[in-house]
Amino acid sequence: MSPNHMVTEPADTVTPLSPAATARSLPLDEKVRLLTGAGTWTLHSLPELGLRTITVSDGPIGVRGGDDTSSLPSAQLPAPSATAATWDPEIQRRIGTLMASEARRKGVDVVLAPVVNLQRTPVGGRHFECLSEDPTLAANLAVAFVESIQAAGVAACIKHFIANESETERTEYIARIDERTLREVYLAPFEAVVEAGVWTLMAAYNGLAVGGVEATSTEHEVLLTDILRTEWGFDGVVVSDWLATKTTDAPANAGLDLVMPGPLGPWGDALVDAVHAGRVSEAAIDEHVERIVTLAARVGALSGTPGLVEPAPAGDFPAPDSPEVRGLLTELAARSTVVLRNEGGVLPLDLPAGASVALIGPNAVKPFTQGGGSAFVTPPLVADPLAALVEALPGASVTLHRGGTAEATAPLVPLDRLSTPAGEPGLLVELLGDDDGVLEQFAVTDPARIWFPVQRTDAARVRLVAELELPGAGRHEIEIAPVGAHRVLVDGELVGESERRVGAEVVLDSSYANPPSLTAVIDTDETRSVTIAAELQIVDAESYGRFVRVHLRSRTPGRSVSEEIDDAVAAAASSDLAIVVIGTNSETESEGWDRPNLALPGRQNELVRRVVAANPRTVVVVNAGAPVILPWLDEAPAVLWWWLPGQEAGTSLAAVLTGAIEPSGRLPWTLPVDEADVPVPNGLPVGGYLDYIEGIHVGHRGWDRLARTPAREFGFGLGYTSWQYEALSVAPADAGAHAEASVTVSNVGGRDGREVVQVYLEGPDDGIERPVRWLAGSAVVDAAAGASVTVTIPIPRRAFEIWDLERGDWSLPRGEYRVRVGRSSRDLRLEAVLQVHP
Ligand code: BGC
Repeated sequence: MSPNHMVTEPADTVTPLSPAATARSLPLDEKVRLLTGAGTWTLHSLPELGLRTITVSDGPIGVRGGDDTSSLPSAQLPAPSATAATWDPEIQRRIGTLMASEARRKGVDVVLAPVVNLQRTPVGGRHFECLSEDPTLAANLAVAFVESIQAAGVAACIKHFIANESETERTEYIARIDERTLREVYLAPFEAVVEAGVWTLMAAYNGLAVGGVEATSTEHEVLLTDILRTEWGFDGVVVSDWLATKTTDAPANAGLDLVMPGPLGPWGDALVDAVHAGRVSEAAIDEHVERIVTLAARVGALSGTPGLVEPAPAGDFPAPDSPEVRGLLTELAARSTVVLRNEGGVLPLDLPAGASVALIGPNAVKPFTQGGGSAFVTPPLVADPLAALVEALPGASVTLHRGGTAEATAPLVPLDRLSTPAGEPGLLVELLGDDDGVLEQFAVTDPARIWFPVQRTDAARVRLVAELELPGAGRHEIEIAPVGAHRVLVDGELVGESERRVGAEVVLDSSYANPPSLTAVIDTDETRSVTIAAELQIVDAESYGRFVRVHLRSRTPGRSVSEEIDDAVAAAASSDLAIVVIGTNSETESEGWDRPNLALPGRQNELVRRVVAANPRTVVVVNAGAPVILPWLDEAPAVLWWWLPGQEAGTSLAAVLTGAIEPSGRLPWTLPVDEADVPVPNGLPVGGYLDYIEGIHVGHRGWDRLARTPAREFGFGLGYTSWQYEALSVAPADAGAHAEASVTVSNVGGRDGREVVQVYLEGPDDGIERPVRWLAGSAVVDAAAGASVTVTIPIPRRAFEIWDLERGDWSLPRGEYRVRVGRSSRDLRLEAVLQVHP
């Protein structure tokens, strides 16, 4: 894919800028206007400067697009935690190139990705959006992504700076992190990406207390100026997370350049006043403006920039359902998949002619392709597992059995069961004024999730009326889930009411996406209709707009979960092979909240256990982004961790099962046996503070320190072949401690394969607190069956360094380090000693 657009010479060589000088001479209010967004996803243009509108978009699952383009389908990638399982910077480069192409197709200049917060606790709501629990792996992958997307002239925005590892109270809490941990663990991926030249960075919602300074991220001068700009030399734009900026002077003085979204917010006239009053200097404003102008030059939004060419038309970029994009997305999801267990060579499948296959599980029927929250994109399609398996297994007969739902809420009501009082399809909406008079009426015909904008400011609330058909005799459960203040009636009977009004916080905590339900239960002897009438609040979510949102769901009489499980088990027993796809769903993994536990939702453990007992040839496929407890893991013959695979769910699953693509993923985090073992079991702030008490022992380091045995350790993944390690040699590479490890790996299995060679360090016995073992580098190796490859892996100086609190600088402790090389953090095959001299 070649996103041929815009800047024809390396954008980094663009010299800023006489437009910046022009910008400085603009009237103060015009300069200040540039420092708050023009809309939710746009920056202000300034034609006098040749500055066009810059459009930003989330990231990191795909590129959703700006106001005009977000309704068009986007390529939906596997979640970042999935692609991180490839451990492959080259794959991240290909993702960067794809995202740049998607950005240009959708008129986007800045993609709000990658997320380099760490998976500090497995319950973290945005776990699936992060790359890894390990700072080195996260850094290496993020650098490759950022370099490649920006090489195509699209800015990356690294986020969320810093310590946004929890969703609970995320807009409020102050993270307390000791300085050494901050430097060595949480800042490390940001530092690496800044060094690689990232053009924008997002300041987080939460705050940070470090070294006696306590402030929100947007107001943190130590973070935004001392560390980021003075020490690291960041010359890009610092943008606030959406609605994170609450004040005027402090962020402007601390180093925040851009408040998003706009056009409202705490800057504008208040910032002009602050400059007039001398609380913020005009020089500070000029610096912010200059950085925005530099960003514009980098992304091709500033006319007169050397090398600037007009953007290619959207049609020049491959569509998200083109064979080219689909092929890449299939490969990404398949390569990311981790083989957790494969006894007796069940995988890859080798089925006799005419074999019968029972495809089972709630996630086989409805794969969970992406987590919830701001990263959400609408794909052009979701490749169906059943259809893909039928195609990939010619001659086999494949049947589908849900085995019960794992969702607590009922299914959304389809349009064909809804009508307005006048008999039209859909629901009737009335906008009501202050005096209860009807200002406007219209029908909503997309009942999937009822969400519509309300522009009229004279509308005080809405009334919604619908006839809902209850098909068939039996018990019907109707779930009505309003966002904010409401009064809901079913057939004239009050089901629930609340006067609690809500605002933008429902967007920030994602509760608008899963509002709690009011339930009405109706028993009927025949098909009939009920009238639903609801008066609902119009939510004023500031720059996210004014809207009404309610979910309408219903459970009709039908088979129970127990009956569905029985059917699925019977199908498994009478088939040659069972494939069970289980996992999380949109009720489980999302931005906005942390998970209360690591359990698989619903009765899926029971389903797996019974299917495995019924058919010794069972493959279990786990469709989840973040760890869930798998109590049957070592009872099932084969288990794959299939992640949140994106739009190519079915095609990737078929490719992996048949072995068309080797699932060569290695866990970028640790899979616990039991919840009680997890070193950082939650991220719940206490009294407004979140204490990172585990210090530098994040992720697998914590498991090693506590000598606990996980179900599968960091770096684990079997692939489809076997590997032998030999001939490790370790040598200083250049000046002093920068070393390299060279090792020969042989593919001793019967299939061509891919290995991820991992290098860990263990420190000298010098009294300095260190992790038991830490990741220092890795390499991806392809080898044909029977072939050997020698690979050399650089170990950067930083891998040996520690943050010296007294000197406030990095120091390199001398001594004897053990270099351990292997297939995972606990399957270490070879070791050598390296003498480090400062
Ligand atoms: C998220 C960011 C996202 C922004 C814009 C925020 O709630 O934390 O990651 O980029 O919204 O959607």
